[in-house]
Amino acid sequence: MNSAMIKGTGYYVPKNVVTNEDLSKLMDTNSEWIIERTGIKERRWIDNDDESTSSMALEASKNAITDAGIDKSEIDFIIFATLSPDYYFPGPGVTLQKELDIDTIGALDVRNQCSGFLYALSIADQYIKTGMYNNILVVGSEYHSGGLDKTTRGRGVSVIFGDGAGAAIVSKSPDKNRGILSTHLHSQGEHAEELALIGPSTRRWVPEIIDNEGKDDQSIYPYMNGTFVFKQAVTRFPQVIGEALQQNNLQTTDIDLLIPHQANLRISQFVQRSMKLTDDQVFNNIQKYGNTTAASIPIALAEAKLEGRVKEGDLICLAAFGSGFTWASALIRW
Ligand code: UT7
Repeated sequence: MNSAMIKGTGYYVPKNVVTNEDLSKLMDTNSEWIIERTGIKERRWIDNDDESTSSMALEASKNAITDAGIDKSEIDFIIFATLSPDYYFPGPGVTLQKELDIDTIGALDVRNQCSGFLYALSIADQYIKTGMYNNILVVGSEYHSGGLDKTTRGRGVSVIFGDGAGAAIVSKSPDKNRGILSTHLHSQGEHAEELALIGPSTRRWVPEIIDNEGKDDQSIYPYMNGTFVFKQAVTRFPQVIGEALQQNNLQTTDIDLLIPHQANLRISQFVQRSMKLTDDQVFNNIQKYGNTTAASIPIALAEAKLEGRVKEGDLICLAAFGSGFTWASALIRW
């Protein structure tokens, strides 16, 4: 059985910076509230028609390909995680395949929201392990800003989310002791509607929404039961990280860097405290980008690498929790 490693990482965020002060001009909010409750100071929001979920993914992918030192023709599969695809169908994997201008390789779309990148990474890990593929492009990209309710009514959701993309090249490791040690995936569909976008969908067709015009149809905006999600997140993160450590006979003190999904700085800090991790052991960048759902882990991983916080031999832990609910972790010997 092969071992799979992350050979290269890359990210891309739109140029347009939206500060908390900018938001306070759109809705009844203020920077103190946003920083105190979420840690977010600014986020990137697409402000032009040229950028999209797949265009951001393309830029992040190019950076990951360069970082991996491979040619794009060596990629033999694409896995694309997002909750904000360019089109209802087809999924964005095929758009990325076209824009990368690579041969007719397979492209798979993953719909697991905040855990999407880790679900995608887990799939890539299995394909590399079995020898089916050699180099898999795994991408998380999200264009949230176009679909948020930017009035006071939507402030509990819209101040949190940002746009961006992150990518990784997952390849066969030359050393069996290096690479992805294990991945752990969970879901609990009974809470599906606690963090969801209900319309447009097959439960709420577009004509029905159009017929409702002027009747204040809130189903077209994401809904989040923030407090409930928060409480679940601070329980599930330590659980799924503990599961990964236990499977590999490792302790929290063995972790060189935990990169949690950037949901809310308070959630990351809560997890850090409850697992007795030091500041050096946890990476956060939500302050600059907000919550970018499936893109948050690969963006953070690429940034952490650029900052020299991910080094050969390090034990890296990735963990996520979000809509579904879904949650997941991965342990990597870098
Ligand atoms: O990545 C996907 C997973 N998502 C998450 O993990 C998010 C988890 N949840 C959270 O991060 C937090 O629940 C939020 C940041 C969303 C909200 O923080 P909270 O401490 O749970 O606040 P709350 O929803 O209980 O609201 C407290 C107050 C309310 O006012 P009243 O009813 O006490 O008068 C809200 O109306 O804060 C008000 N509020 C705001 N005030 C200013 C809600 N949003 C805002 C806002 N600015 N943007």
